[in-house]
Amino acid sequence: MPALLTRWKSLPPEQRSAYRWGLIVAAIAAAVLLLPGRESWHAAGPHNVGHTNVECSECHAPAPGSFAGQAVRNLLHVVGLADSAPHFIYAPAGNEQCLACHENPDDRHPVAKFLEPEFTKARQAIGVQSCVNCHQEHLGVRVSVTRRVCQHCHQDTALSDDPVDIPHTTLISDQRWETCLGCHDFHGNHERDVPKLMSEVLTEEQIQRYFDGGLSPYGYRRLTVIQTMRLHKDDL
Ligand code: HEC
Ligand code: HEC
Ligand code: HEC
Ligand code: HEC
Ligand code: HEC
Repeated sequence: MPALLTRWKSLPPEQRSAYRWGLIVAAIAAAVLLLPGRESWHAAGPHNVGHTNVECSECHAPAPGSFAGQAVRNLLHVVGLADSAPHFIYAPAGNEQCLACHENPDDRHPVAKFLEPEFTKARQAIGVQSCVNCHQEHLGVRVSVTRRVCQHCHQDTALSDDPVDIPHTTLISDQRWETCLGCHDFHGNHERDVPKLMSEVLTEEQIQRYFDGGLSPYGYRRLTVIQTMRLHKDDL
């Protein structure tokens, strides 16, 4: 080490400066390329259903701080000198961004409602208060949450005059949570009649295919399609 220091000191100043810059650039490059969880920067992953023409900037505000500042803080984090790494280039998207295009005043499950105390358990279990916890982006799918998600809130659902041939109370006591989406969509945005017969329930495969990006088994007419208007607002 002292030998190295002596050699460093014997270098002409221009050369020292060049080495210093070389080290800084290499360190920044390493921070960019090697950080765990940041590898998606180069390949964020496939667009979700419908989002092919949505600009990155519609969902991602630039992360606070300059590129160099973020890189240096990320680097300090890697070598243990900073507690947290800042988001690199993009801050993550939240409800605000989604609702700017997808505001649906008739949503039967509006996310804001789930901030209430009675939903604490559901928030802890799946983060129901946030769109992206059920619709993870960059996986190339439409819906990423489990098909049995209803169980977190509908344990006590009972209809006084139940029209279904196996009543809801029975479905629930038998834990048949996979059947719910077979008759109901989640947001109530598809124009359709809810079936009353168990023989008409969509299969789990049909629901999963829709989650993964396939055509809607609930029909094609939707009640609120505000997003398309928002996206084309400049043409109006
Ligand atoms: C429709 C909204 C949306 C669009 C459009 C979008 N993203 Fe994302 N992106 C997200 C969400 C939400 C996350 C958080 C991870 C998740 O929920 O899947 C994310 C995560 C990321 C991450 C990881 C961020 C981190 O700090 O870990 C990167 C990088 C990223 N996106 C880059 C891009 C790029 C590049 C584009 C444009 C090609 C883009 N995104 C377009 C919503 C979007
Ligand atoms: C700039 C506008 C815009 C933003 C922001 C946006 N979307 Fe979209 N989204 C669209 C458009 C346009 C479509 C395709 C047309 C449609 O399906 O109505 C779409 C489609 C979808 C679909 C599939 C709908 C279907 O056809 O079944 C889902 C789910 C979705 N978006 C969720 C989200 C979530 C969650 C976010 C926030 C991370 C988000 N979107 C942010 C414009 C946007
Ligand atoms: C608890 C999970 C959950 C949350 C939270 C959630 N969704 Fe969904 N979403 C689903 C499921 C399940 C479907 C598929 C069934 C259906 O089409 O309603 C769906 C379907 C959709 C669709 C396509 C059908 C339609 O309604 O037009 C869009 C668009 C959508 N979600 C947007 C959003 C947005 C925007 C948010 C946040 C404001 C959000 N979702 C929050 C579970 C969720
Ligand atoms: C985070 C909690 C939560 C989750 C998860 C949830 N719901 Fe709900 N759901 C509610 C609440 C709250 C209401 C309103 C009930 C009320 O007003 O009594 C509701 C209402 C409904 C309604 C009646 C809507 C109306 O307008 O009459 C249906 C149908 C429904 N949910 C089906 C489902 C299905 C199917 C799932 C699973 C895909 C599901 N829910 C998941 C909380 C939830
Ligand atoms: C065979 C189809 C079918 C299945 C399976 C089914 N439902 Fe229903 N559900 C209905 C019908 C029909 C109604 C009453 C008509 C309506 O939705 O407007 C209803 C009503 C509801 C309501 C509104 C209750 C109210 O007080 O108005 C909720 C909440 C609900 N179902 C949740 C669920 C959940 C959770 C599951 C899964 C355990 C489920 N349903 C399974 C057909 C079904």
